[in-house]
Amino acid sequence: MGRSEKTKKRYDRWSRFYDVFDLGGVNDQKKLAVNLLKPENNAKIMDMGTGTGAIIPYLAQQLGEEGQIIGIDFSENMVKAANERIRKQGIASKAKAMVADGTKLPFPDEYFDGIIATFAFTSFPEPEKAIRECARVLRPGGRFSILDTGKPAGKKHMFRYRYLKFLMWKAGYTDISLDIPDLVRKAGLKVNKIQRFSGSFAYVTIALKI
Ligand SMILES: C[S@@+](CC[C@H](N)C(=O)[O-])C[C@H]1O[C@@H](n2cnc3c(N)ncnc32)[C@H](O)[C@@H]1O
Repeated sequence: MGRSEKTKKRYDRWSRFYDVFDLGGVNDQKKLAVNLLKPENNAKIMDMGTGTGAIIPYLAQQLGEEGQIIGIDFSENMVKAANERIRKQGIASKAKAMVADGTKLPFPDEYFDGIIATFAFTSFPEPEKAIRECARVLRPGGRFSILDTGKPAGKKHMFRYRYLKFLMWKAGYTDISLDIPDLVRKAGLKVNKIQRFSGSFAYVTIALKI
């Protein structure tokens, strides 16, 4: 079984307790990633690697009636959980989750006004391919907001970072050494902003399609 198949199966299994441990919760970091996306009222937004759709209700609040959210994930059980959340929140008129592989998105070029991905790419088996796909389906002028865990800017917390990197890889093949701004640039997008959080290795990258 390849890494992609193993990752899919792992998230299928984890979907049952993901929200119990609040792994799929919406916290201030995720809210900031949505706020920095600055979606227009009628925007069509993709949530890449949506998991249980944690950010979808908050994202839906930022959009008007015409806005549309499509959460995609390659784990069927995660997508079921996300659609259940959408149903319970009564936001099915503007949001849905669907099964799709982020490295082969079933959308035409320039389809979305904005894309968001929270703690997604570090767990993707082929993140560079998925980021290239995001660049393809984003319209010119569109914004891409990525929240993930990564290397700290200075040397101060390097020991703690290396330990976390080891733990995350052992626990779930999550590679927090991924350089997201670099991959975004390689996909032809412009890095507009990098926002770090104090006391955490999480950071938001905002990219633009020019
Ligand atoms: C760590 S979870 C993050 C979920 C959610 N975004 C959040 O913030 O709670 C990563 C998700 O990415 C999904 N994923 C991993 N590789 C993928 C791929 N190639 N295509 C689509 N989804 C993928 C996993 O199934 C999992 O649900």
